[in-house]
Amino acid sequence: MTEYTITRKFNTSVERTPRVLEIAESFGLGLSDKEFVVYDGLKIDIRPADVVYIKGQSGSGKSLLLKDLSAQMIAGGLKVADLNKIELDEHPVVELVGKDTNEALDLLAKAGISDAWIYIRKPSELSDGQRYRLKLAMLMASDADVWIADEFGAVLDRVTARVVAFSMQKVSRRAGKTFMVATTHEDMVTELAPDLTITKMFREKVKIEAGA
Ligand SMILES: Nc1ncnc2c1ncn2[C@@H]1O[C@H](COP(=O)(O)OP(=O)(O)OP(=O)(O)O)[C@@H](O)[C@H]1O
Ligand SMILES: [Mg+2]
Repeated sequence: MTEYTITRKFNTSVERTPRVLEIAESFGLGLSDKEFVVYDGLKIDIRPADVVYIKGQSGSGKSLLLKDLSAQMIAGGLKVADLNKIELDEHPVVELVGKDTNEALDLLAKAGISDAWIYIRKPSELSDGQRYRLKLAMLMASDADVWIADEFGAVLDRVTARVVAFSMQKVSRRAGKTFMVATTHEDMVTELAPDLTITKMFREKVKIEAGA
């Protein structure tokens, strides 16, 4: 188990354009610099093979948390694979994952792709949701210790999102990988069966619970 400490504060200085000054005057906003605290010494314990579910409204601080956890994990010697950093080469899908065709089909199925027409297309010929699932397959194929997915499942229809969430937590647990997702969607929690749920609220308010 490793304990991570997260602190994130911003000094918000406003650019005083004529329109900004007009808004400030109309709404009675003070424009002096203010400290904006998102995390203030939050402690999080994460074990290898944990599924970590980060939820909360837009702007609450989910992406910042993933970014900081990722940076601290890398500094601690772990290999982190980030879904949003995966680039797709322009080759048939079946060539992009796994050491052979069988392994490719297995990984793609785990990511929710089981259509022969998709196997032989190139990334540029796929829909956003198909490309997203291809990236999930590549995440599962990586040799990283930690898998990170911000906006997890956001571009998928909700049934597919739940199927993929169930499948990915199974694979990550079996492989002993830490799997960390952030999402505003709350409909995948049963399928994800998280070990740790972090609910970020506004300001530095946050709730950490074991389980879902
Ligand atoms: N460089 C920055 N300077 C000032 N404030 C920032 C900066 N980066 C992020 N913030 C603020 O920190 C807060 C958290 O941002 P974050 O991107 O983590 O939100 P989020 O929960 O991922 O939201 P979303 O669901 O919309 O992706 C936001 O209110 C944002 O405005
Ligand atoms: Mg975000």
